[in-house]
Amino acid sequence: MDNNVVWHRPTVTRDRRAQNNGHKSVILWFTGLSGAGKSTIAHALEESLYQLGAKTYVLDGDNVRHGLCGDLGFSDKDRNENIRRIGEVSKLFIDAGVIALCAFISPFRADRQRARELVDEGDFIEIHVKCPLEVCETRDPKGLYQKARAGLIKGYTGISSPYEEPENPEIVLDTSVQNINECVEQIIDYLTKKEIVV
Ligand code: PPS
Repeated sequence: MDNNVVWHRPTVTRDRRAQNNGHKSVILWFTGLSGAGKSTIAHALEESLYQLGAKTYVLDGDNVRHGLCGDLGFSDKDRNENIRRIGEVSKLFIDAGVIALCAFISPFRADRQRARELVDEGDFIEIHVKCPLEVCETRDPKGLYQKARAGLIKGYTGISSPYEEPENPEIVLDTSVQNINECVEQIIDYLTKKEIVV
């Protein structure tokens, strides 16, 4: 970094924002296979939190890849960079007092760990949206598993590119047995117990 660049401390701090908002800001990091339900749960949770008056924003793989990460593909290197940028953006969101809901496959443990290390302990809540590959493949909402099996997409997560499961996620949801409402309730329970929302 350029030595002449100096961090400017805001007077409106994260703590002051939290007081005003009536809740803390955290990163809810949803990771899992394509079709596991990351985006669906993140948006359903956002709806519930929004109705409670919380400040929230969903950062979602497909959407972010239209803009901020529009120059990136799905090589390991590009996925590393994708998650690095999202980690930095999420950090800005929690500084802004917002609960950031990040829904990315984020297949590599090291990338998720790097995103976790950008923020303080407790600020990064990893949510493993677990679902067997066979079930995700049956759902195949975008028809991409079928294309990947046919060899039309190279390096598709779960088929020809690895997914490294979290070892110690704060929350595990199994969408092959839990419905969306149950998943949302489980996360809200966690946030309430940790006094992130009241
Ligand atoms: S990553 O691995 O975290 O950088 O991926 P992400 O930004 O979350 O983007 C995942 C969505 O992109 C679509 N897609 C692919 N996924 C995995 N592998 C390959 N090769 C690929 N090509 C396109 C796919 O629809 C993912 O959407 P979700 O929402 O996860 O189903």
